Amino acid sequence: MTGLRIPDNALLRHKLARLRDRRTDSAGFRRLLAEIGAMLTMEAMADLPEREEAVETPVTATRARMLAAPEPCLVAVLRAGLGLLEGARGILPEAPVGHLGLVRDEHTLVASEYVVRLPRDLAARGALVLDPMLATGGSAVQAVARVKQAGATTIRFACVVAAPEGLHALCAAHPDVPVIAAALDEKLNERGYIVPGLGDAGDRCFGTE
Ligand code: PRP
Ligand code: URA
Repeated sequence: MTGLRIPDNALLRHKLARLRDRRTDSAGFRRLLAEIGAMLTMEAMADLPEREEAVETPVTATRARMLAAPEPCLVAVLRAGLGLLEGARGILPEAPVGHLGLVRDEHTLVASEYVVRLPRDLAARGALVLDPMLATGGSAVQAVARVKQAGATTIRFACVVAAPEGLHALCAAHPDVPVIAAALDEKLNERGYIVPGLGDAGDRCFGTE
């Protein structure tokens, strides 16, 4: 499957293992999600266009590479995307932030939208969409479509755990959108949860289990 990037990073795997652990409490879960959000954002930004400029260090004049365009916007898919957003903002402090409220019906697994607040300059900056769970892919497909509708043409999608079903759906609907994930899991269960997964990310993040 093209379009998927999983950073080869022992620290990321360690943090994901602790995030998966059912004994990790809500405070620990939030902290880990933020840390993983920072690491995935670093990976997602690795191929941003650069330009070279003259820079004076305290020692000498040199040339250094920097971003050619303003930082991309961050778009958190509520609720669980807020956990990733905290870490992503540490890496991209100048990035405007959008919020997209989507909730999945637990029986039909179809996501419905309850809030949309997106930055104006999506067209100029592009966007990194953040949602820890890519399960059936319904939420991610909708989220990316919304961000495109608002003008973004360069979009990346970062999640913690992807299921093969969700990855297929997202890549089929939006083949131009690279997916950056900490892991590709085995499958979905009959209730639409990722296996082995980490449970309900929103509930664990906000203590609403
Ligand atoms: C979770 C998760 C994704 C979605 C993934 O959110 O954060 O947005 O499910 O499932 P899908 O790929 O099958 O659409 P949920 O709807 O549970 O809302 P919450 O974050 O508010 O708990
Ligand atoms: N949403 C979650 O929070 N977890 C899953 O495993 C699937 C969807």
